[in-house]
Amino acid sequence: MVSNSGNKPRVLSGIQPSGNLTIGNYLGALKQWVEVQRQFDCFYCVVDLHAITVAQNPDELRQKTRESAAMYIAAGLDPEVSTIFVQSHIAAHSELAWMLTCMAPLGWLHRMTQFKDKSAKQSQESIGAGLLNYPSLMAADILLYHADLVPVGDDQNQHLEFTRDLAQRFNHAYGETFTLPSVMNPEAGARIMGLDNPTAKMSKSEDSENHAVFLLDDLAAARRKIMRAVTDSHREIRFSSERERAGVNNLLTIYQAITDESSADIEAHFADKGYGDLKRAVADCVVSTLEPLQARYYELMNEKGYLDSVLKLGREKAGAIAEATLKRAQENMGFLAPS
Ligand code: TRP
Repeated sequence: MVSNSGNKPRVLSGIQPSGNLTIGNYLGALKQWVEVQRQFDCFYCVVDLHAITVAQNPDELRQKTRESAAMYIAAGLDPEVSTIFVQSHIAAHSELAWMLTCMAPLGWLHRMTQFKDKSAKQSQESIGAGLLNYPSLMAADILLYHADLVPVGDDQNQHLEFTRDLAQRFNHAYGETFTLPSVMNPEAGARIMGLDNPTAKMSKSEDSENHAVFLLDDLAAARRKIMRAVTDSHREIRFSSERERAGVNNLLTIYQAITDESSADIEAHFADKGYGDLKRAVADCVVSTLEPLQARYYELMNEKGYLDSVLKLGREKAGAIAEATLKRAQENMGFLAPS
């Protein structure tokens, strides 16, 4: 029997420290991480090894890694409850990723839509191999901790399937080693779309000015971006999967992800209102989410040594588990143990 030995199911997730975090990251991931942290045994990492699948400036990567960790805490993760750590601080992630890379069929990797999307934007000859192998590293992150549940936006579901398939393949070839994880998508807000282009997921690395609200945006700027969000020429305010109505649907989704109200209540609330009212209501709730989060964030970044101590503790707690799993996987695969 391989599994996490505690009695609470274990959760693991991570966000890349590339670019600044957006309300899409908050509503699609962080908010749910916070909500489940007392119910489950939670591990949250800053996935810097994933960030280097595209070139990063070294100083910026270092800075963004610290900022992301601080943002996890500012969003409400309690370092005494959740284990917060940096992926590259635990060598086992890279080591297991290699072993899994060797077991990952190229066919599976080529089928990943995230790879297809990202590689379509570059010339085939110059795409880094890391972009293709990205899912094997993600599988290592998850399998090292015997995670039962992985909270991610639904764009990551295919990577979770890949992780399960790969774990099964390893278990089958070398004996029971890994726990098969299940995906956990947030109910509302799994997918916050770009404000300027509501048919594409909100991205932290998109350049255009009115695309994303960043968690550290000045509150007036955040409000302005929402007021400028793309809508349509209809009048009715309701949830819709029609492409044409994606802008209004996105605003409603943001509103719902923040307020946790039912779709029916929200539609009733906006029944006799216009798009301007909707935008103001969304801006209000976004601003009241950002305000306390930013205050806590700046406090944390100024508390010298605190963040480092959180990451040191996280590294110790996560490292012990990861190393034990890696050792077992290495033994099962046939590596000679050092004497
Ligand atoms: N690929 C994930 C994303 O882009 C980030 C990630 C890396 C992750 N490792 C993970 C998420 C492990 C969950 C579990 O969102």
